[in-house]
Amino acid sequence: MQAIDKELIKKRFQRSLKTYDDEAIVQKGMASSLIDLLTGNAGNKFNKILEIGCGTGNLTRQIVHNLDFQEFITNDIVEESDKYVQNISDRILFTPGDAETIDLSAGFDLIVSNASFQWMSDLPEFLKKLHSCINKDGILAFTSFSPDNFGEISQLTDCKLDYYSQLELIYLINDYFEPIYINNEKEILSFNSPLEVLEHVKQIGVNALNLKFWTKKDLNEFQINYVKYFSDNGKVNLTYCPDYYILKAK
Ligand SMILES: C[S@@+](CC[C@H](N)C(=O)[O-])C[C@H]1O[C@@H](n2cnc3c(N)ncnc32)[C@H](O)[C@@H]1O
Repeated sequence: MQAIDKELIKKRFQRSLKTYDDEAIVQKGMASSLIDLLTGNAGNKFNKILEIGCGTGNLTRQIVHNLDFQEFITNDIVEESDKYVQNISDRILFTPGDAETIDLSAGFDLIVSNASFQWMSDLPEFLKKLHSCINKDGILAFTSFSPDNFGEISQLTDCKLDYYSQLELIYLINDYFEPIYINNEKEILSFNSPLEVLEHVKQIGVNALNLKFWTKKDLNEFQINYVKYFSDNGKVNLTYCPDYYILKAK
């Protein structure tokens, strides 16, 4: 279980709503891949769907365009997400709040989420909760990130989320879900400078780095070391390690 300040997360994602879509190139690709993997492995017909952490609706849009459904409920801890999903389709019902603590209703055939589960304070417990909302043989399809995600930043600072490895997660939820498809990828983005990396991370709302507490010396050291260790052809790298899970409820 990791200590996650939900109010802070809410504030950061609220602030990043306007910049998120332009910067979240990796997350957009993850949403498309997740839909392809879902339809390839479990079909496209689902009676009742729940999406957790819909944000500005990257995955929501893909669901509306690619899946055949009767009911579709989306959720996000940030209430303003409602405006974004209502622009996508008036068939969507939005439930605001912390998905770990609110009542999510039940009887879902499909629960989906893109790039959000890494923000849960107790992911194994949360997955058990989702199991209680999903029908037997229902599908849980989500993406998250591996422990090596943003390795450049975690090697130079003490800031990182406690990501689960795929093996750990599968072991922890073995009583509740059976894997249908699991995969891990690596995607490297290039930036002109370490400051651009920090700006990118801020604009997608991930800013786990509490820059308020950095001195000028901390920032200088971060930039010098980032260039020293993570440069490539005059650019600096940032590595994303997305994980894909298509699971069936036992
Ligand atoms: C990286 S964004 C992903 C947004 C969207 N799914 C996409 O594909 O672009 C993570 C989202 O999870 C939401 N989130 C974080 N913690 C949450 C929680 N406990 N309950 C519900 N939503 C949460 C954030 O507000 C944010 O919109």
